[in-house]
Amino acid sequence: MNKILNIRNEELPVRTNVERHDREVLSELLGRALASTYVLYHKTHAFHWNVTGPLFYAVHNLTDAQYKDMAEAVDQIAERVRAIGFPTPIGLSRYARESMVEDVLEFPDTGTMVQQLARDHQTLAEQLREIVKVAEDADDVYTADLLTSRIGFHEESAWMLNALIVQ
Ligand SMILES: [Fe+2]
Repeated sequence: MNKILNIRNEELPVRTNVERHDREVLSELLGRALASTYVLYHKTHAFHWNVTGPLFYAVHNLTDAQYKDMAEAVDQIAERVRAIGFPTPIGLSRYARESMVEDVLEFPDTGTMVQQLARDHQTLAEQLREIVKVAEDADDVYTADLLTSRIGFHEESAWMLNALIVQ
């Protein structure tokens, strides 16, 4: 057997200016951001499928753009964990457990769906803001930049969702 194929898939050697301990802390926090983003991705998709009523097209189309954006984002966040040297956490049940966004098993009425999503985007933006502070303190500028742009997306999404239902 080729020795290369036997190397265990754990911590990878990386050379950055960021201390190993800081990278470890940030990989844990990024894993939690990944969990929240994955759950909100799924919840957005679930509401996209099940929305009904006069706001059908508005909600269906807005959530279409939002779930596609988050599908890209989970990949970027997951791969950032690898790039700073650590394994990316996996498992949908783990994501649901660690997510700051609550998973759902039933879909509510359309107004409640939109309200819930707007609140979830704000929750996720707040979670990311805390991680940006840690990344900045550790001088991990790329992680700080990546998550800062994600905050922009979530705040904009919360605004657009709220604008649909606020009179
Ligand atoms: Fe769709």
